[in-house]
Amino acid sequence: MINIGIIIFMNFLQQLPRPFFVLAPMDDVTDTVFRQVVADCAPPDLFFTEFVNVDGLQSPGRAKLIKKLQFTAKEKPVIAQIWGKNPENFRKTANELVEMGFAGIDLNMGCPEKTVVKNGCCSALINNRELAAEIIKATQEGAAGRVPVSVKTRIGFSQIDLTWLEFLLGLKLDMLTIHGRTRKEMSEVPVHWDVIGEVRALRDKIAPQTLIVGNGDIETREEGLKLAEKYGLDGVMIGRGVFHDPFVFAQESQWPTYTKERRVELYARHVRLFDDTWKNNERRIVTLNRFCKVYINGFDGAKELREQLMVAGSADKLLAILAAA
Ligand SMILES: Cc1cc2nc3c(=O)[nH]c(=O)nc-3n(C[C@H](O)[C@H](O)[C@H](O)COP(=O)(O)O)c2cc1C
Repeated sequence: MINIGIIIFMNFLQQLPRPFFVLAPMDDVTDTVFRQVVADCAPPDLFFTEFVNVDGLQSPGRAKLIKKLQFTAKEKPVIAQIWGKNPENFRKTANELVEMGFAGIDLNMGCPEKTVVKNGCCSALINNRELAAEIIKATQEGAAGRVPVSVKTRIGFSQIDLTWLEFLLGLKLDMLTIHGRTRKEMSEVPVHWDVIGEVRALRDKIAPQTLIVGNGDIETREEGLKLAEKYGLDGVMIGRGVFHDPFVFAQESQWPTYTKERRVELYARHVRLFDDTWKNNERRIVTLNRFCKVYINGFDGAKELREQLMVAGSADKLLAILAAA
């Protein structure tokens, strides 16, 4: 007998090491350029894009936004993170993202910024479960089992609210990333790791197939390993830790002994890649200043060099200053 039409979906997330390490999505930071730099230093097990708005993607604004979805073979596997309001746009976008070659699709239900919350998006969905469920269902239908669908969220809106996480765990997600703070807490209080641990225990009961990733204030790989072990997590996600150490995902980071010359060269590499990638000024040169602080650090004269670089105003000037440093 011939068995036709059965596609066995291999969820690549299940094949990742345990715990796996994820580079957090950071808007205006983790673009293809920075992801390539991190990949060359010490790659994580999984990358995320910056969040991209589906309502914008399915509008005349598409041409501009689609550039945020660029990636190269170096940044693999990469999950596209999306946000928005209209479930139909999530459905269409999900199908397109699969065709573009993304390894997965993540839904942002955690961004605390006033403008998105006022619009009822991202962390505002914690208080609008009906829409949250519609968005997840539409995305799952758009992806049609071809890639995993996941959510990144916080542990509540104004207060810690395990019913939100329980609700999400009932929706057949492939992965749930939890930033251990409420929306109200922004980034201002210590991360509630115990609550992330409680969510993992809930997962064991409600949704054994959903992988749990913990996030918040992790500065080193070692710290990530300890937290994953303590709370039984499948993965850990590091965001701002990469600003203090671009080799944060390495077994052993070279950064503490990285010389001035190599730090300067790493920034020059970032600037050249930025200039090649965003040829038509799609990204403002000032967005590089955040990276200046990352690389131009930890050696004599770094502060003075940063002061020159921060006001350079063009890639050519930046490269000239770096070459003379
Ligand atoms: C500059 C910046 C931009 C961010 N943009 C996003 C985003 O696009 N999507 C998202 O889910 N989280 C975003 N975040 C939140 C991070 O992914 C992460 O959850 C948060 O920084 C806490 O982790 P960390 O302490 O390891 O940085 C952003 C954070 C920062 C600092």
